[in-house]
Amino acid sequence: MFLKLLASIVGTLLSYGLYHALKLVYQELNSPVRHLPGPRSNHFIYGSSKDLMRDMADGGALQEKWVEMYGRTLKYPFFFGLTRLYTTDTKALNHFLTNHNIYQRPPHSRYLLSLIVGPGVLVTEGEVHKRQRKVMGPAFGVPQLRELTSIFFAKSAEVRNIWASEAADSPMRLDVLSWLNKTTLDIIGLAGFDYSFNSLNTERPTELATAFDATMQATVTLSAFDIIPAWVPALRACPTKFAVLGRASQKTMSRIGREILRRTKTDMAESGTFEPRRGRDLLSLLVRANTAKDVPENQRLSENEVLAQVPTFLAAGHETTSTGTTWALFALTQNIPAQTRLRAELLGVETETPGMDELNALPYLDCVVREALRLNPPVVSTSRVATQDDVVPLDTPWTDARGVVHETLRVTKGQNVIIPILAMNRDKTIWGPDATEFIPERWESETPISNNLPGVWGQTLTFLGGPRACIGYRFSVVEMKALLFTLVRAFEFELAVPAVDIGRKISIVQHPFVRSDPGAGVQMPLIVKPYPRPM
Ligand code: HEM
Ligand SMILES: *[C@@H]1O[C@H](CO)[C@@H](O)[C@H](O)[C@H]1NC(C)=O
Repeated sequence: MFLKLLASIVGTLLSYGLYHALKLVYQELNSPVRHLPGPRSNHFIYGSSKDLMRDMADGGALQEKWVEMYGRTLKYPFFFGLTRLYTTDTKALNHFLTNHNIYQRPPHSRYLLSLIVGPGVLVTEGEVHKRQRKVMGPAFGVPQLRELTSIFFAKSAEVRNIWASEAADSPMRLDVLSWLNKTTLDIIGLAGFDYSFNSLNTERPTELATAFDATMQATVTLSAFDIIPAWVPALRACPTKFAVLGRASQKTMSRIGREILRRTKTDMAESGTFEPRRGRDLLSLLVRANTAKDVPENQRLSENEVLAQVPTFLAAGHETTSTGTTWALFALTQNIPAQTRLRAELLGVETETPGMDELNALPYLDCVVREALRLNPPVVSTSRVATQDDVVPLDTPWTDARGVVHETLRVTKGQNVIIPILAMNRDKTIWGPDATEFIPERWESETPISNNLPGVWGQTLTFLGGPRACIGYRFSVVEMKALLFTLVRAFEFELAVPAVDIGRKISIVQHPFVRSDPGAGVQMPLIVKPYPRPM
């Protein structure tokens, strides 16, 4: 009896596996993408996928060479001899990003993300995603952000004071990455859901920080056992290490989220009108929007959906902003005239805590942030999968092996597409021959570039574009500006190691590390020296 059952389970799994393998082979053989030109495979398992990942960490030279040799739209060998599409064609990328209902986040990446953040706006698709974005929209608007600016400055001052006391007597070597990581965690806690992580001034992490940290650490050490179920949905019931950990963390995060939510609602009820006493954080605003009278019942978020936004804000808004700011400080150590010019502009402001509008009106600070986020986008690439057959329009036609020129590209259902954020941000045909240098001045001309990139901010792909662009882009730009304003006024920065010693490691974001000291983990060692200010 038992054997029979086992045999039938194994049989089902095998035929399921066989079915999927055959489907993959069929898709592969029929894929029009196979006719594109492109590099040959140099490894029978990895194809070129490892080279591509490494190149994204190394700044994109290989991708540039590929485009030079094969044109803007090309194929490259993926794992197990499968063919993947790579394109830097602006019209094609525009098409992928604006047609977000056709080009969705791949199921395997949605699955892995959902183990970290639950059914939040990062992982949902279609109508559910649209409904969530709509209710969340106002919380990320300009008027709300104006209210949050004082939180950004309060936390910026806190980290400034810590650094000032460490470097009081002599210039001090500090790992700015870990400090900024704490600062942006504290900020997203307070501004995101009125929660004090207090990671800047205590060593003891809160329960929420511990739960979130556990899943984040686990993403760095994913094993094949964790990844296979992502690709083979039938195996998702398996209790892999990551799945068990993710679900346990989510349980903790939901419980804490529910406490936060209860407090938010009590605050709202006590203040009578829907004007909460302190609720200017994103979650309170979201709850308010969700309960507004003009929102029809079927357009509202469920409690689980609301709760999922807590880990979503953490996953999306914490390390992205800290690495973005870290790379901005790094860039300023590599261009001392820019650092000096920025400091002069910032010291021209009377107050330590300007409002959002005053901050946004500082022209050179704006150039510096734009240029830093162009050159070192925290998220270097993302991917999408076509959910139906489609014809992709192109700026630059491609030529097949028989010499036939094609104005468009046919893709079939299941086709994976890469959105090469870093490569587009550094593309020499778009940005000019100095594309890989940090030159804030390029943003001073009225029209720095005229491209058709569908980027939601700064003519770059840093925050992506289209209906699934980063919802928090205004938030993080103002946050970065407040941090740089406060820190560059107070200190002079110098790189503590030679510039060539700084490498990049890509997990969800691109982290810096020191090549000669990889054992120390990710870090950005800078020499921090108080800037003597005339009283
Ligand atoms: C410098 C900082 C940031 C960068 C570079 C960044 C970048 C991005 C990128 C590239 C995406 C698209 C990912 C994809 O679809 O594959 C994204 C999505 C998202 N970001 Fe950000 N982000 C930043 C800060 C923030 C902050 C501060 C928040 C929230 C407080 C946030 C919330 C989100 C959310 C919720 C999404 C999902 C949007 C959707 O799918 O509809 N991000 N971000
Ligand atoms: C930043 O904080 C997160 C937890 O919120 C942690 O997982 C990560 O290791 C930290 N990264 C750095 C570079 O300190």
